[in-house]
Amino acid sequence: MSEEKFTKRILCIGAGYVGGPTMAMIAAKCPKYKVTVVDINEDKINAWKSDELPIYEPGLLEVVKQARGRNLFFSTELEKNIKESEIIFVSVNTPTKTFGEGAGKSADLQYWEKCARDIRGSAESDKIIVEKSTLPVKTAIAMERILSENDKGLHFDIVSNPEFLAEGTAIRDLENPDRVLIGSKETESGLKARESIVEIFANWIPRDRLITSNLMSAELSKLVANSFLAQRISSINSISALCEKVDADVSEVAFAIGKDSRIGNRFLNASVGFGGSCFKKDILNLVYLCETFGLYEVAAYWESVVKMNDYQQNRFVQTINSALFNTVTNKRIALFGFAFKANTSDTRESPAFYVTKKLMEEKAHVVISDPKALKNAKMDLKGFNDLIEYEEDPYKAAHKSHAIAVLTEWDLYRELDYEKIYKEMEKPAFIFDGRNILDHQKLFEIGFNVYPIGKPHLIHFKEV
Ligand SMILES: NC(=O)c1ccc[n+]([C@@H]2O[C@H](COP(=O)([O-])OP(=O)(O)OC[C@H]3O[C@@H](n4cnc5c(N)ncnc54)[C@H](O)[C@@H]3O)[C@@H](O)[C@H]2O)c1
Repeated sequence: MSEEKFTKRILCIGAGYVGGPTMAMIAAKCPKYKVTVVDINEDKINAWKSDELPIYEPGLLEVVKQARGRNLFFSTELEKNIKESEIIFVSVNTPTKTFGEGAGKSADLQYWEKCARDIRGSAESDKIIVEKSTLPVKTAIAMERILSENDKGLHFDIVSNPEFLAEGTAIRDLENPDRVLIGSKETESGLKARESIVEIFANWIPRDRLITSNLMSAELSKLVANSFLAQRISSINSISALCEKVDADVSEVAFAIGKDSRIGNRFLNASVGFGGSCFKKDILNLVYLCETFGLYEVAAYWESVVKMNDYQQNRFVQTINSALFNTVTNKRIALFGFAFKANTSDTRESPAFYVTKKLMEEKAHVVISDPKALKNAKMDLKGFNDLIEYEEDPYKAAHKSHAIAVLTEWDLYRELDYEKIYKEMEKPAFIFDGRNILDHQKLFEIGFNVYPIGKPHLIHFKEV
């Protein structure tokens, strides 16, 4: 299609886990729009132009290939692309601040603010700016102030369109979302801008799933959605600890309560804990927001969700240590999975990172296995790399090991030949199922000592 034929020119700043897949989906569904994704990271942009995408996400390459070169483009040229586009999505990272006021809780907005200043510097026409990143409430107002301080007489409308996709199922979530939320100011131009964004998604998503709200509600809803999801995981994890004390089975409890339609059955799998770049960061962001407004009880309530997650990860390592006769020193421990969840290469805030660090402190010989995340694992653990083994093949990772800890729910770990694995392990052989995905009774019958989460331990000798 020639340049003139495009009916909208959309730019996205930030080609990460959100910017890349979201824009690929818009481009695939809307051939009449030109969609360009820019990033300051040249290697990442080159990877987006190749068949070795910078992130692993099932189905993503197919969607990218449908549109790339037709109406989907990847570039490092920020200025030119800002000038050319009418709508700019900003999807840069907003990590937890590590320094100064709010360190450890509030969002670090430096990348975000730089985008606002870059847009203001290069723009030559009015634009709609869409917040895709997850941000503290009222960031849109700050952005509007920065942008409106221009001496070119330009007008910018800010729209909040938080992303609800989950890594691992991003393509399915983008193609068929439960809802898309679009918030704006309720002024005439704000409502017009809101409608322009609704129009994009209406190309493939039914109108009744395109929800609109004011700016602050949209910004807050994203923080609240992630906090509620994480809260469910922490709630069931807290119960898993109790189940282990009273010989209850957390899966049976989850099934029984999940049958209640008021509770529902999703997000009730007990595990070693949640990870990922968003849950902890977004909850802490909410906590900081509450503290800022003096709502200390509300802040403490939500902070306990993170504390429970830390407790669960710690409890998992303690279980390994005490089962292995209170010493893991020099013992070979194979970790099955390093990604924070299945079907992604993302390792940010992965429980596996915490478990590895703790085991390294105890001088264990850790062998990390993962089908997609070994590259990221090596980067995360670069300080320890001389002491850690990385082995993609789980059979080789488990060979001569004293214990296996399952940390990511990859399907492939359900399907392994555990008889073969058992034969090649040191005895007594232990397996710690941090995701409750294995057939525990069968493993026990093979000879393993089995430690699931929130279920009775299956052991061949008396626990001391
Ligand atoms: N990852 C998820 O599952 C997910 C889901 C929903 C929302 N979010 C939110 O979306 C936002 C982005 O998350 P992500 O996981 O895609 O992050 P990411 O780190 O994968 O990607 C962000 C990208 O922005 C680029 N960038 C930073 N500053 C830039 C600048 N000034 N100009 C151009 N590029 C710049 C970085 O190089 C990086 O490639 C965050 O606010 C996050 O909370 C993430």
